[in-house]
Parts: sequence; structure tokens; C-alpha cells
Amino acid sequence: MAREKSWQDIIPVADLMKGDATPVQFGARELAVFDTVEGVTVSMARCTHGAANLCDGYFDGKTIECPLHQGLFDARSGEALAAPARVKLRMLESRVQDGNVQIYI
Ligand code: FES
Repeated sequence: MAREKSWQDIIPVADLMKGDATPVQFGARELAVFDTVEGVTVSMARCTHGAANLCDGYFDGKTIECPLHQGLFDARSGEALAAPARVKLRMLESRVQDGNVQIYI
């Protein structure tokens, strides 16, 4: 039987790197928490092109550049914007509640 989804705290907002990408380990999941110009978003941390952790890449508040081959993703929508990245990032439904970043899983 499938477990019901619920909101889970993953990191206090105060612990985020301001204006940057913060890596968060949540159980077996490696997540990237982006402090974007439009608010906090969360994706799976691994690049969809290879195995690089996107939190090691360059983040400008809107886009994240992969540290390995410089593929580019929109950190708000997950869209792949520049080759060799072609597959969208898997974004997780997220929100900020009571000072914590939460994901709905
Ligand atoms: Fe990210 Fe290749 S591993 S662009």
C-alpha cells in the first residue's frame, strides 16, 4: 500500500546559503535547494546529463550551471536551457513553512 504524501521539513531557511544552491541529504535523496530571486525551489541534486552534483555548479539566482560540462538549467522550472543538458531537472513540490523548507513527498 502506498504511503500518503505529506509535507516534510528538509532544512531550516536560516541554514540555506543565501542566494546560492544548498545540498541537502534527505534519507536516500540528494537534493538541491535553490534560493532563487523568486523564492526557494528544490530539485534532485544530480545533473540529468551525468552524475555531477549541481550544488557544486555556478548559480546566479535563476539558473544553475553544471560544474562538469556546463549544462544549464532553470532552477525555478527545472527546464534544460543549454547543451549538453537536454532533460529537465526533477523538481519537488516545495514551500517554506514555519522557518523550514518543506517538500511534499
Ligand atoms: Fe551536467 Fe554533463 S554532467 S552537463
